[in-house]
Formats: sequence, C-alpha cells, structure tokens
Amino acid sequence: MVGDLLKFAVESAGENLTKLRALDLGAGNGIMGDVLKHHGMARAVGADIIPEARDAAYRDRPHVYDEYYVSDFTDLDESDHEHLAEWSFNCLTCVAALGFGDIPASAFLQAMQLIQSGGWVAFNIKETFLDKSDNSGFSRLIRELIFSEFLDLHQLQRYRHRLAMDGSPLFYFALVAKKNADIPASFLEEHGFAGA
Ligand SMILES: C[S@@+](CC[C@H](N)C(=O)[O-])C[C@H]1O[C@@H](n2cnc3c(N)ncnc32)[C@H](O)[C@@H]1O
Repeated sequence: MVGDLLKFAVESAGENLTKLRALDLGAGNGIMGDVLKHHGMARAVGADIIPEARDAAYRDRPHVYDEYYVSDFTDLDESDHEHLAEWSFNCLTCVAALGFGDIPASAFLQAMQLIQSGGWVAFNIKETFLDKSDNSGFSRLIRELIFSEFLDLHQLQRYRHRLAMDGSPLFYFALVAKKNADIPASFLEEHGFAGA
C-alpha cells in the first residue's frame, strides 16, 4: 500500500520514480525494498538498528538493497552519518515501524534530515495518529509536521492493514508527503521534540 501510494503520488506530481534514491528506515528483511525496486527506483538503501535485520535482508532478498546500514538512528555515529549523506537521498520510506513502540520520533527526524529538500517521504501509521487523544511522540510530531511549512501532504490513504488475532480489521493510514526544507532545531524545541 505504501509503495503503491508513493508511486501514485510521484507520478501524479509529474515526476519519475526511476530518479529516486530511497532510504528505507527500519528496513527489516527488505519487504519495502523489494517494492521500491519493483517500481523501478534507482537506488534503495536499507537501515536498521539490528544486524539480524540486515542478515535477513541479504538472505531473503539479496538483490534489493544497494547498501544496508546497521545503525541506531536515535544516535547515528559520525561515520555512518557521513556515508549516508553521500547517497543524497531524495526519498525516505518507513513501513510498519513508526508509532508501534519501534522507531522513536527522534530517529525518524534524523532520517528526514538526510533527505534533500523536494524529496519524498512515505510511511504508514495506525489510524489513531490523527486523533488528538493519541499523544504519543510520533503522532504529535506528524500532526505538527503536516501543518508546518516543512512538509506538504500529497496522499493520505486509510486501509485495512491486517486482521487482529480475533479476526477484526486493523486500519492504518499510508501517507506520502514532500519535504520542503530541513526542519530547524527551533521547530523541534518549540514542539518539545529536542532530544526526544
Ligand atoms: C516492525 S519492523 C518493520 C520492518 C519492515 N519495514 C517491514 O515492513 O517488514 C521495525 C524495524 O525497525 C527497526 N528499528 C527500531 N528502532 C530503530 C532505530 N532506532 N534505528 C533504526 N531501526 C530501528 C527494528 O529493528 C525493526 O526491524
């Protein structure tokens, strides 16, 4: 769903997926990377905090990622930051990893700063994220960001992500946006995300 929505958004904007160099944050064993490559993306780079994820991606989908970094995006070391910056990413994807107790807001923000202005950002999140009662860090961050000048929302799609154990449907949102500019430290401080 996230890959298809990204494709739709990019093509609707008159741009070409084959020009995208994507950073897939929280890449796991490469399901999203597979979709990106299937859609003809120029480059796909995976990143995950655990080496087992990289090993699984190389085992299950050896031809998907051009590179795979094992790094903690809440505390990116200088050398990884330098190497990642060299890719000049113009797309960030993050699937099934945000607001689930997995990737914290600060890691997502770090990845956002590695994306060029004018680049694409695509991710999914559970449906409560637009709901003010959801006060988790990432929900607050996303609500602030989509109403800020730093992100332009292009697509928002509610869909049945999966069935719960009792068979009831779980709905998520897939979201595709364009990054307009780097998010300054003042924005993070203002909204209480500095050091989050
Ligand atoms: C639920 S998995 C999603 C995997 C994959 N995107 C998919 O859809 O199958 C979330 C991934 O985020 C990674 N992760 C969690 N915290 C992270 C961090 N601080 N930096 C980088 N990756 C992180 C986890 O190791 C895990 O592989």
